[in-house]
Amino acid sequence: MNILIKNGAIVTSKKSFNSDIYISNGKIVQIKELLNILEPIDKTIDAKGFYIFPGGIDPHVHMHLPTPAGYSSDDFKSGSKAALFGGTTTLIDFVTPQKGQTLIDALNQRKTEAENSICDYSFHVSPVEWTKNTEQEITDCIKAGITSFKVYMAYKDSIGLNDDDIFKVMQVVGKAGGIVTLHCELGDNIDELRNALAEKGKLSPEFHPVSRPDYTESEAVKKAIELAKKAACTIYIVHTSAGKSVKYIEEAQKAGQQVYSETCPQYLILDDTKYIGDFEDTSKLVMSPPLRKREDQNILWESINKGIVKTIGTDHCPFTLEQKKNGIDDFRKIPNGAGGVEHRITLLYTYGVLQNRITLNQFIDITSTQAAKIFGLHPQKGEIAVGSDADLVIWNPEKENTISVENHHQNCDLEIYEGIKTKGTTEFVILNGEIVIEKGELVSDRKGQFLKRSI
Ligand code: URP
Ligand code: ZN
Ligand code: ZN
Repeated sequence: MNILIKNGAIVTSKKSFNSDIYISNGKIVQIKELLNILEPIDKTIDAKGFYIFPGGIDPHVHMHLPTPAGYSSDDFKSGSKAALFGGTTTLIDFVTPQKGQTLIDALNQRKTEAENSICDYSFHVSPVEWTKNTEQEITDCIKAGITSFKVYMAYKDSIGLNDDDIFKVMQVVGKAGGIVTLHCELGDNIDELRNALAEKGKLSPEFHPVSRPDYTESEAVKKAIELAKKAACTIYIVHTSAGKSVKYIEEAQKAGQQVYSETCPQYLILDDTKYIGDFEDTSKLVMSPPLRKREDQNILWESINKGIVKTIGTDHCPFTLEQKKNGIDDFRKIPNGAGGVEHRITLLYTYGVLQNRITLNQFIDITSTQAAKIFGLHPQKGEIAVGSDADLVIWNPEKENTISVENHHQNCDLEIYEGIKTKGTTEFVILNGEIVIEKGELVSDRKGQFLKRSI
């Protein structure tokens, strides 16, 4: 398909400029003002008054995640559809093996589950135990196109690893030139705090954040940085929520250590006052780490601006009210997680760019380009350049919306951003040179492709 986009205001992580874009065979072929194309054109889009962004990359989603309360409610099809409506064209999900299952088997199984994704996708692979075979299994995954491995310092009774095993993973991945991503929370301390609250009968969702105070994150971040330094491994701290964590990340970066950090819109926009209320309104916010204080939000915004926090993921992991009710009598049984893949870009545009907290170019950097660079997808993804995949968002900066379960595309009857107003939305989304969203409609049933990455 040949598409000509005329009169757009192109925004990349580095510059903004007016130009036409010509797309053919899934790639960006020409970027030039007043393009005159001699080949037959299937579609011409007049982008006057709109911005053109590189397709968004969400480096942290959990589609169809198995939990004791059932699978997270978006599968790859519904979740990727919601992502596309919001301007995200590439997803990085996770491979979480069963104990005893090899990493490569789990990767192949997950690839099958993801086949109905409309977005392009990759995975971070999680070693959930250390065995004599883990080193070889990590090597096998790297050969299969995986460059990032995720470890959990929390959830010790299921998928969490102890510090010794995290260190071993870091040594192996570091030697291979890959990256370890970490869920940083001190799992043992949290388990103690949760059980102490439960003994006192403090079992409503209000006590979820009490059981996971900010130091349980920041001290885990500190420990992760120390382990990575010794292991000579690049790390990426997922869902940074606490201001105190930023201090350790900044120090490490200043000392020259390769430490990347991600935060999520929920930690920038919502705060812990929302845990007071009835079960329906508060259980939907049970996620880990929990929402923090206004002061933490300010530190996070500032750290994005300074380039300390490099990316915005969503940790998209929605559960229905029925699933959340698994913990109606005990917050420890509420499945952890919330949706957000659809709203990431408009929230960052509205509350970041329009409120002058970040520039338009920074906005592109944190929602697309940096994730591509860190996770080995650049310049195929996250860029508007000749030769890059034609993954483009044509953005209407004027259109307003109020986020609601009534109008979102996420497969969930709960919405953590219910009632929040946004400005700016997708007019067209193009993925691999094909129009997938056109004026609020999904117009393609394309199959996303697994993105092989290399170190
Ligand atoms: O509460 C959360 N974040 N659920 C998803 C799994 C994780 O920890 O990232
Ligand atoms: Zn996590
Ligand atoms: Zn997560």
